[in-house]
Amino acid sequence: MCSTLGTGWTVRWSNASDADMRVVVTGGAGFIGANLCRTLVTTSEVDAVVALDDLSTGSRANLDGVEGVELVEGSILDAELLDQVIPGADAIIHLAARPSVPRSLIDPMATHRVNATGTLEVLEAARRHGDPQVVVASSSSVYGANPTLPKHEDMAPMPVSPYAVSKLATESYALAYGHSFGLPTLAFRFFNVFGPLQAADHAYAAVIPAFLANALRGDPLPVHGDGRQTRDFTYVGTVCSVLADAVVRTVTDPRPVNLAFGTRVTLLEVIALIEQQLGRSLECAHSESRAGDVRDSQADQGNLRRLFPDVQPVPLEEGLRATINWFEELS
Ligand SMILES: NC(=O)c1ccc[n+]([C@@H]2O[C@H](COP(=O)([O-])OP(=O)(O)OC[C@H]3O[C@@H](n4cnc5c(N)ncnc54)[C@H](O)[C@@H]3O)[C@@H](O)[C@H]2O)c1
Repeated sequence: MCSTLGTGWTVRWSNASDADMRVVVTGGAGFIGANLCRTLVTTSEVDAVVALDDLSTGSRANLDGVEGVELVEGSILDAELLDQVIPGADAIIHLAARPSVPRSLIDPMATHRVNATGTLEVLEAARRHGDPQVVVASSSSVYGANPTLPKHEDMAPMPVSPYAVSKLATESYALAYGHSFGLPTLAFRFFNVFGPLQAADHAYAAVIPAFLANALRGDPLPVHGDGRQTRDFTYVGTVCSVLADAVVRTVTDPRPVNLAFGTRVTLLEVIALIEQQLGRSLECAHSESRAGDVRDSQADQGNLRRLFPDVQPVPLEEGLRATINWFEELS
C-alpha cells in the first residue's frame, strides 16, 4: 500500500542505504506520474520512490495498491517542502504541472506559476541538495504553429498557447541549468500520452479517455473540428519505461528529446480502431476546433532512438486494448 505523509516532515528514505537509488516524482499522483511510480517500484535498480503532488488534478486513489511509494502532499512552489523532500534523492522526475491548453487560456498566470516558476523551484532545490539528475516533462505543443512534419527538435519552437510557452520555459530552464551549473538534466517532449489512469470526466480531458468514456456510456464521441487532425499517440507504459531507463542510466542531453515514435494517426482513425475493438460503430458529435490546438503532430524519433536504442514502444492497438480494459473495469 502506498503510504501518505503530510507536510512538516523530512523524507527518511526508509530502508535505503547510501548505495541505493532514490527517485522523487513530482506530480506522482497524476496520470503519467502514478503509472511511473508503478514502473519505478518494479525497477530493480530503484530502491525508494517518493511522489510529491498537491492533488490539484491528481489523486491519492491513483496510487491505491502501489507498494513502496511515499506520497507527500504539497506544492512544488513550496521551497521549504522541497528542502524536506529532495535531500538524498539521486533523481527527480519532474512531471508536476497544470497540463492543459484550455486551462492556460483561462488563467495564463496560474499556468506560468506552476509550470515555469515551479520548475525553477525544483531546479533550485536540486542545486541546493547535491545536484541529483532532473528529468523534466515538456510537450509537443512547443512546436505550435511550425507546420513542418515530422517535428524535429532542431526546428524553431512556435508556441501558440500560454501552456506551450510554459512548457518551453520548463525545458529551457532545465537545459540551461545543465549548461550553467552542470546539473545533470534531460528534457523530454511528450506527445499525446494515453493509457490507464487518465482522467476522462472533466472539461479538459484528453481525447482518447474522452472517446472511451463516452463510447462505454453509449454517448456520442466529442470531436473538435473535422476529426482529420493528426496526433502521435504514445502509450503511457512506453513513456514510463523510457523515464525509468533515463534515471537508471543517468541519461542527459543538452537538447530537448521527443518522446514519441512517429505514429501519425487522425482522430477518425483512432475512432475506427476503438470501433473495431468494441465491435460496434460509434456516433460522433463534432464541435468547433479549439483555440490553441495544433492541426498536425508527429515526432521525429531520431534523438530518442540514439539515447534509448533498446526501447520497444507498445503499438497503438495494444495500448488502446489495455486502456479499454481499464475503462471497462472502472464502469
Ligand atoms: N498527458 C499528455 O499527453 C502530456 C503531453 C505533453 C506533456 N505532458 C506533461 O506531462 C506531465 C504529466 O501530465 P499528466 O498528463 O500526467 O497530467 P496530470 O494532471 O495527471 O498530472 C500532473 C500532476 O501534477 C500535480 N500538480 C499540479 N500542480 C502541482 C504543484 N504546484 N505541486 C505539486 N504537484 C502539482 C497534479 O495534481 C497532477 O497529479 C505534465 O508536466 C504535462 O505538462 C503530458
